[in-house]
Amino acid sequence: MPPPSPIPTSGKTLNACEPEEFPQQELPKQQLSDQQLHQPEPLRPSWGGDGSFSLWSGEFQQGFHSGRGALREARETFVDPAQLERLAPGSTVLALDLCVGTGSNTAALLERCSALGLQLQWWGIELDRQPLQLALADAKFQSQWPQQAIEPLRQLSHGDRWQSPLGQGQMFWGDARERLPELLALAAGSCHLVMHDAFSPQRCPQLWSLEFLTGLAQLLLLDGRLLTYSSAAAVRRSLQLVGLQLAAIRHHEPAQQSPGAWSGGTAASPTPLANCKFLRPLAAMEWEHLATNAAEPYRDPDGRASAATILTNRARQQRSRGAEGGVESTSAWRRRWGLEANRIPLQESA
Ligand SMILES: C[S@@+](CC[C@H](N)C(=O)[O-])C[C@H]1O[C@@H](n2cnc3c(N)ncnc32)[C@H](O)[C@@H]1O
Repeated sequence: MPPPSPIPTSGKTLNACEPEEFPQQELPKQQLSDQQLHQPEPLRPSWGGDGSFSLWSGEFQQGFHSGRGALREARETFVDPAQLERLAPGSTVLALDLCVGTGSNTAALLERCSALGLQLQWWGIELDRQPLQLALADAKFQSQWPQQAIEPLRQLSHGDRWQSPLGQGQMFWGDARERLPELLALAAGSCHLVMHDAFSPQRCPQLWSLEFLTGLAQLLLLDGRLLTYSSAAAVRRSLQLVGLQLAAIRHHEPAQQSPGAWSGGTAASPTPLANCKFLRPLAAMEWEHLATNAAEPYRDPDGRASAATILTNRARQQRSRGAEGGVESTSAWRRRWGLEANRIPLQESA
């Protein structure tokens, strides 16, 4: 019997009430008045465990960052596992920040490029200007990053490009599904790094579909890396299906890095990723997760489906594969690995 796994902390928000098993369920909007229904749902400032600035999205009912804080998440999940020290000082890193939000991942990336003497050719994709504007208006956010990391964000808050001694960048404001083809026309096959930081697959399945991940994979250099906080089976299986090799991002808490422990996210690359301080091979438990019903990909063939449609179609597909037999149910997998008692959030395992 494998050792029980500790509670994972790689989700945006560890919400065990995520309606994974019945994703077609609606959140209780019926209880809201018509007037409330048509109000844009607000973004609320919040502060993570490390005291850094973050936001809560009323629309997606999810935090922008995990409980440990934006600053730690940016460094531990996105910048450390990129291993930019692989590049010679003076060379240029080509990177995409998908779902820029407050700009924390970009700030951490700029900070690291500066420390390593690297130049940055940056692209960002983001739907909403407000998170960046709210972050830049916050004194805490301003003070948590070096000025040379803040300056490019300031330029983006009122435009769509930045230029600084650290490099240059272009923001694609809008729906990532619409803007990604434009970026592919510029940068296919040339990126060292894609930081995928959308809301969780159950909240924003559009940006985790097999079709969308196919586009992201096409951005990568042969030794480029896509990094994400998500360890969801459907995301990992889709990355595999688009031809990428998988590794687990080591958990940020050393105490949770034992064999069989849950990971701190996923790294994917066209070429195999070596075991190192930040990455490890997937554990047997994680590989078997990819053969369960939870690994059913999110599908969005024409790139225009609503979140509800994608979730409903996936749930239908899961039921029909389950009825055919031949695919293990996620609950059987959880029981087999003794995960019930540890209550892995459904968002990671369903
Ligand atoms: C989890 S937050 C990103 C956190 C961000 N990396 C940060 O450090 O603040 C997800 C972001 O995705 C954006 N978003 C949601 N749907 C999107 C879409 N279809 N296309 C582009 N961006 C989207 C939201 O506006 C939000 O800023």
